[in-house]
Amino acid sequence: MRVLVTGGMGYIGSHTCVQMIEAGMTPIILDNLYNSKKSVLSRIEMLTGVSPAFYEGDIRDRTFLDKVFAENKIDAVIHFAGLKAVGESVEKPLEYYDNNVHGTLVLVEAMRAAGVGSLIFSSSATVYGDPASVPIKEDFPTSATNPYGRSKLMVEECLTDIQHAYPEMSITLLRYFNPVGSHQSGLMGEDPQGIPNNLMPFISQVAVGRREFLSVFGDDYPTVDGTGVRDYIHVLDLADGHLAALTHKGSEAGLHIYNLGTGNGFSVLQMIDAFSKAAGVEVAYQVVSRRPGDIAECWADPAKAKEELHWQATRTIDDMTADTWRWQSSNPDGYPDL
Ligand code: NAD
Ligand code: WQD
Repeated sequence: MRVLVTGGMGYIGSHTCVQMIEAGMTPIILDNLYNSKKSVLSRIEMLTGVSPAFYEGDIRDRTFLDKVFAENKIDAVIHFAGLKAVGESVEKPLEYYDNNVHGTLVLVEAMRAAGVGSLIFSSSATVYGDPASVPIKEDFPTSATNPYGRSKLMVEECLTDIQHAYPEMSITLLRYFNPVGSHQSGLMGEDPQGIPNNLMPFISQVAVGRREFLSVFGDDYPTVDGTGVRDYIHVLDLADGHLAALTHKGSEAGLHIYNLGTGNGFSVLQMIDAFSKAAGVEVAYQVVSRRPGDIAECWADPAKAKEELHWQATRTIDDMTADTWRWQSSNPDGYPDL
């Protein structure tokens, strides 16, 4: 199966490409390298022995997309490309709507022109807003509290309308919970540019000595220890979820929606503790006030994906922390510049 992977040089996309190659699929990567480095390609080759086709360009460039579709017989598209920083989206809403919403529409136009009818879209648990209860099921109400989340919700709504209008299409919305971890080799991992927004890369940069301490955003939530609780999922389990979605739903016309999470919640303090044990170093932290917009707890009910995609997360918190540490300690400054 030949799959166009937009954003395939990024964190989740690169791990998914490795798993695809291992499973005998052929990823064709399209990325503008806005938030990734070209050296990712050689890491994919080191791990798999295969250097996938790579097109450097933007999903908003229709002429470029038409060329990529014309040069490759593509069976399906996995669409990771987009901007993902919540705080930045508040400062730069135009960029987020342009990249995430407009970019997706241009991509789908190009797919239709090329006769490609199968799409998997990277959505997020952020579309559930502040859920009334946990665990979260796919039919819970959706809402958004920031432009990033709204862009994901808008794309979900656009794709829903598009699938209704073109019922022969297969469109799968995968709602990721909190992706963390790295390839177990230590050769690939998350490489945020600038100050990390997310918990796990921040913890690992403190552990490796790049940052002095972690700020824990609030310890007065109604949770097990007062800190926020999330459903952390190993990036390779997440990657495998895409393969399962392609295999089981990629050629079935319809709109398909799945949570990709483990069904377990861990608090910030539990993550710090797990990481300290995996790395064998203390992670310095200070409790500060809550981060605006944060919710107390969020974890998935992953039963639908288990039943219909025959997929479930298998990697533990210890795998997530140990693999992150292997990547961070052997690549303290992330991927090299070429
Ligand atoms: P990432 O930034 O590492 O990867 C995204 C890739 O897309 C980058 O390589 C970037 O260069 C590329 N890109 C961005 N805009 C582009 C454009 N206009 N044209 C071509 N390429 C473009 O992010 P990630 O963590 O791998 O996330 C992948 C997807 O999953 C995103 O859509 C994100 O919103 C979604 N998601 C991520 C998380 C998370 O916590 N990482 C959670 C839920 C959903
Ligand atoms: C996790 C927990 C923080 C950093 C975000 C997006 C979501 C999705 C995943 C893309 C929370 C706490 C964090 C720090 C901390 N992304 N924390 N100190 O907020 O669940 O989700 O990333 O779709 O849309 O909103 O993830 O990793 O930022 O935070 O105490 O320096 O860690 O308060 O409880 P979040 P996160």
